[in-house]
Amino acid sequence: MLKNNLFLTPAEADKKAYVKMMEATVDAVVSAMDHSHAYAGMGPYELRDAVHTDELLPEQGCGFDGIMAEIKEKILPNLVRPMSTDYMAHLHGAALLESIAAELILSTFNQSMDSWDQAPVATEIEVEVIRNLCKLYGYDENGDGVFTSGGSQSNLSGLLLARDWFCNSKLNWDVKKFGLPDNFRKFRMYSSEIAHFSMEKSTHLMGMGYEAVVKVPVDDAMRMDCAKLREIIEADVKNGYLPFCVAATIGTTDFGSIDPMDELRKICDEYGMWLHADAAYGSGVVMSEKYAHRVAGLAVCDSITVDFHKMFMLPISCSVSLIKDKANFDALTIHADYLNREEDEEDGYINLVNKSMQTTRRFDALKVWISFRMRGKAGWSELITRCIDNAHYFYTQLKKRDDVEVIVEPEISSVVFRLLPAAGSEEDADTMNKRIRRKLLHHKGVVIGQTVCRGNVCLKFTLLNPLQSPEKLDELLALILSLR
Ligand SMILES: Cc1ncc(COP(=O)(O)O)c(C=O)c1O
Repeated sequence: MLKNNLFLTPAEADKKAYVKMMEATVDAVVSAMDHSHAYAGMGPYELRDAVHTDELLPEQGCGFDGIMAEIKEKILPNLVRPMSTDYMAHLHGAALLESIAAELILSTFNQSMDSWDQAPVATEIEVEVIRNLCKLYGYDENGDGVFTSGGSQSNLSGLLLARDWFCNSKLNWDVKKFGLPDNFRKFRMYSSEIAHFSMEKSTHLMGMGYEAVVKVPVDDAMRMDCAKLREIIEADVKNGYLPFCVAATIGTTDFGSIDPMDELRKICDEYGMWLHADAAYGSGVVMSEKYAHRVAGLAVCDSITVDFHKMFMLPISCSVSLIKDKANFDALTIHADYLNREEDEEDGYINLVNKSMQTTRRFDALKVWISFRMRGKAGWSELITRCIDNAHYFYTQLKKRDDVEVIVEPEISSVVFRLLPAAGSEEDADTMNKRIRRKLLHHKGVVIGQTVCRGNVCLKFTLLNPLQSPEKLDELLALILSLR
């Protein structure tokens, strides 16, 4: 007889153990919610000492009660709390309640999305979710998509399909079979100078190196400058380079700025290029009735990165790579006798591994299914609109002050600004802004972002929490100003 129960099975003893462990976990989590701050404050060395163990695998285990006691003492109090209105550092949101329930279901049954026989209903649900997402972002029935581990993988997937499409359709070269063509060092893709670093990571992973990414300057609104892009492409073509893709950012990491998709579409068509949209951040805007028009251009892009673990507030990981023409997924298809047999597919069994870089993969689509159906359009619109309205409010408050510099008017829900030192202060602005962020993190329970814009250290509010309010933003601003 094994000492501890292993799985949830029909046996009464296993059901009891499951319920007991889940209830104990819920109790521990709920009792850790004893303050509203975003972080308890420990610094890295203190925290490292607190969790240090030479005995990860002791001779005899301490049992579930024993480990829960340790979790309550060491881990739960020190977790950062993205659900707090004191948390606004990154594109990292809280998890909606219903999506935590979804996580319990998907972890309990642990479906794997690679083949139909490992995930029958889960496969059919993912197919349905993807079909509906294609509609939501303006693709017709030729569109398709797949869940991924996050925006970085969705970007890699989009860019890889772009490269293979270019090689197949323009160079008559099959990369899947033969690898990169001899002239691969001439390949160029274009993204704005403030695009996410997953562009370079992707070209590195694709064997083309960082040099393949050309950084295009942004205008005053932090959007890709299309006139400059045109000039750069013209010069590159003259110099024998092979432009294959433009990657627009729909919601830049720091500013939430949106590159002009319709104009980029025209340029891509002129030069025979693929248009990828990194909408890891901005994809959420489509849910707001008031602001959806700002991202309507997504429909003209050949591939779209949609992240559900950012604006959509679903638990990590949850992302989608959408493709306008499903035929391009062929680049990721490879058949194996042990998994995705063609004869099964002829009989209607769908093996989602055919579209994915991953093999084993989570049933993340359940979180979207539950949350979309539960809240509906109206519920979702309210959540996303609030976040964008809050950013607009905070921006207007900052603009009224002459001791704060605001970098750009937000198009989504991020506000980047920098405090200016008081007259006669000996501290320079960069040092002061850095000091204030650290002070907030370790002494005030408030976690905000920090970045550099045009060589200056700036602070950043990334507002992804619909519980945030103008009153609370006023309080936070007063607190920050008091630390100058
Ligand atoms: C614009 C943009 N694209 C892609 C990513 C990468 O997404 P992920 O962290 O889900 O891999 C991020 C992350 O913040 C981002 O801001």
